[in-house]
Amino acid sequence: MRSHLLNETTADDYRRCVTEGVERVAAKLASTDKPHTGISVDELTPVIAGIDLDRPLNDPAAVLDELEEVYLRDAVYFHHPRYLGHLNCPVVIPAVLGEAVLSAVNSSLDTWDQSIGGTLIERRLIDWTAGRIGFGAGADGVFTSGGSQSNFHALLLARDEACRLVMKNSERELPKAEVLPKLRIFASEVSHFSVKKSAAMLGLGYEAVIPVPVDRTKQMDTSVLALELENCVREGLFPMAVVATAGTTDFGSIDPLPEIARLAAEHSAWMHVDAAYGCGLLVSPTRRHLLDGIELADSVTVDYHKSFFQPVSSSAVLVRDRDTLQHATYHADYLNPRRMAEERIPNQVDKSIQTTRRFDALKLWMTLRVMGADGIGELFDEVCALAAEGWKLIDADPRFEVVVQPQLSTLVFRYVPAGEVRPDLVDEANLHARKALFASGEAVVAGTKVDGDQYLKFTLLNPQTTTADIAAVLDLLAAHAEQYLGESLAFAS
Ligand SMILES: Cc1ncc(COP(=O)(O)O)c(C=O)c1O
Repeated sequence: MRSHLLNETTADDYRRCVTEGVERVAAKLASTDKPHTGISVDELTPVIAGIDLDRPLNDPAAVLDELEEVYLRDAVYFHHPRYLGHLNCPVVIPAVLGEAVLSAVNSSLDTWDQSIGGTLIERRLIDWTAGRIGFGAGADGVFTSGGSQSNFHALLLARDEACRLVMKNSERELPKAEVLPKLRIFASEVSHFSVKKSAAMLGLGYEAVIPVPVDRTKQMDTSVLALELENCVREGLFPMAVVATAGTTDFGSIDPLPEIARLAAEHSAWMHVDAAYGCGLLVSPTRRHLLDGIELADSVTVDYHKSFFQPVSSSAVLVRDRDTLQHATYHADYLNPRRMAEERIPNQVDKSIQTTRRFDALKLWMTLRVMGADGIGELFDEVCALAAEGWKLIDADPRFEVVVQPQLSTLVFRYVPAGEVRPDLVDEANLHARKALFASGEAVVAGTKVDGDQYLKFTLLNPQTTTADIAAVLDLLAAHAEQYLGESLAFAS
């Protein structure tokens, strides 16, 4: 069994084995003509359940053959131009190379003595990103597993900063337990659900998040935010944080960052910018201005695995003031004793809420070193431009209505039949169209609700997608919706 360990004696096996795997995946990518096969849960479940995990095949090639049946054949391929579903981007080759290197070397970025150069590379990338945000020299941050974790981490820091401030300013001794139930977080009604989940996990409850309405363009209405902040203080509660979203999940809308920063500062509230999606603008040669004001934030979430064309996982949380990261610091004798901090040994675990942690930063490093930041930004610009064209197409199409003109690269729209049709049937027709399209494997689109009605969504993150693809998918959706309505109405009459 030792022959399976990757070490100095097995380097040749490693080369052969990984090359074989790469060959299979390359062949698969080259021959994929649909984003997926349309296989159902019921079809695939018994195939996977039928694998006897206690009977190994002992041969990587045989396992790769088996993998074709259980995974590769039916996987959802984000690189396909008709994958228009969730916020998954096609990935760039330098990052995939980084992924292969990082898992083989297998550094863990919690402590310097498990990582060395990895630690310094991650730190350089954090400084680089902070520079792009416009933070000053006091900034810092750390890579995380994704936007949800980054948002959670930021709100943890915000919570503890708020407690510190409230307790400091209180005339009487105030126990933390008394402060926590009074903390409130403000986020737009279309912010990501991880804000609410974070509040719950931070012991504040879902109710601690005050949803702020959005305007027609799905940007936070800051006049309502101002009123809500005042109400909060009037009720003897504490505005802990305002979360601005720079690229909402559904609409790609960017909240008015400078005005939110002003209001947050006025109420001594932490300002967090969730730029999980919009962070691609940091490297955009033409659209960087859309993020103006982000530099005023106390913390920022960036998901390189959304708009930097990086493989999952690759995300970071950044803070304007590195001292605030101390709220997540714990010194353990067996890992990162306080002595090490005094000796200025760079243990990233001092800043992270994870311990053992992947060297995800390597993928971004390879990407920047091969393609450069502008190369990534140009790709993101292409998908934003495509979305603008897609909007024109849908807006001009009488079969559909589209919600807002995109700032980034999503389009939320719905099929609307000609003539009077019951609203619940229209909802069902849209839902059916999405499901039927998925089952056909021809394309993948997402869905969401707007004011309680069922909508469809294109998330455009693939520069290879064309307006012809968009037009073709619209035709497919309309055909499925029409068929559904035709059958339902015939059945009812
Ligand atoms: C605005 C926004 N924030 C946070 C997240 C969560 O990111 P992740 O899926 O990487 O946890 C998403 C995911 O779509 C998002 O759109």
